Amino acid sequence: MQGIEIKNLSYTYSKKTPYEKLALDDVSLSINEGDFIGILGHTGSGKSTLILHINALIKAQTGSVKVMDIDLTQKRPKPDLKRLRTEVGMVFQYPEHQLFDDTIEKDIGFGPKNLKLPADEIKQRVRESMELVGLDYNDFKDRSPFDLSGGQKRRVAIAGVIAMRPKILILDEPTAGLDPEGKEHILTLITRLKAEISPTVIVISHDIDEITRFATRLIVFNKAKIAFDIPMTELFKHEKELVAMGLEVPLAVRVARSLRSKGIELEGNITTPHDLENAVVDYYNKKHFDDKLNSPTNSVSITSNIKNNASGENLSIAYSDNSSATPNDNTISEKEVLR
Ligand SMILES: Nc1ncnc2c1ncn2[C@@H]1O[C@H](COP(=O)(O)OP(=O)(O)OP(=O)(O)O)[C@@H](O)[C@H]1O
Ligand SMILES: [Mg+2]
Repeated sequence: MQGIEIKNLSYTYSKKTPYEKLALDDVSLSINEGDFIGILGHTGSGKSTLILHINALIKAQTGSVKVMDIDLTQKRPKPDLKRLRTEVGMVFQYPEHQLFDDTIEKDIGFGPKNLKLPADEIKQRVRESMELVGLDYNDFKDRSPFDLSGGQKRRVAIAGVIAMRPKILILDEPTAGLDPEGKEHILTLITRLKAEISPTVIVISHDIDEITRFATRLIVFNKAKIAFDIPMTELFKHEKELVAMGLEVPLAVRVARSLRSKGIELEGNITTPHDLENAVVDYYNKKHFDDKLNSPTNSVSITSNIKNNASGENLSIAYSDNSSATPNDNTISEKEVLR
């Protein structure tokens, strides 16, 4: 198994004290290799507590946690935590607070050095990781990680995690506190890391619009439980639940609803700005086509055209205003011509 299997996991902080707090309440979850997961939920809903279990920074009190073939709840033999932490890379909220070495090269190379990799392999990994996060190796390697901007520090911290080449990468609020440009850079980077380094990626975020940009599966936490766990394409069905939990509905979903309420018949399931853009373009192309079809002269030319092309191949339409369109032309689709 390459994924993560969590069964009936519950966790209470400060048990048997006045500060006792149930942070996870009977959570079960399967994460498959290749998943690109966004975790959303109010502050205090249990998101960080869950991922701290995956890296064994918190031990399960009730239930079980299995990461790849490592059973973290097994008593004997003890789970191999060193291997676990090579396979699972964890980028904590404000990871820049964990920078410690006097040069960027040493800071990023810390993990690979601990793995006792040969020096040239360590150097190669540091160089590649820096380049991936957008820091030029020669320009930055000898600089102190403390003399960087907030966004650059975060990139160094992320480079330190990916230098371990983890199969599972977990990021807790990776864009918190960054300016729009810094956020944009991290979001693009996450997608790239998923494609090039870590096949399975889990990102915690408070921002649903950010999550819809990259994740293909959404897990929403509410009061220590999983409220829903869905493919991102089904998010539009859960608008009411998000509102009931006081969570934000994606901007594209809200805009699509507003346009539909004004009679703009957008088709398809709209979750992301990209979906919305496609639906609006399709709508206007179709409307443009319908307008021409509804004009008496154009219907004649289109009807005769369809008759002459029974196989549906090589269709082209001549409008009476001397314009024309083919199925390859992005103003018109083959389906629309043939209906
Ligand atoms: N070390 C701790 N000691 C005591 N209680 C804690 C501790 N860490 C978290 N909690 C409590 O457990 C609950 C869940 O916390 P957790 O950090 O998992 O939430 P979260 O969803 O990650 O929140 P946020 O979005 O603010 O990061 C909260 O009520 C929190 O106050
Ligand atoms: Mg948290």
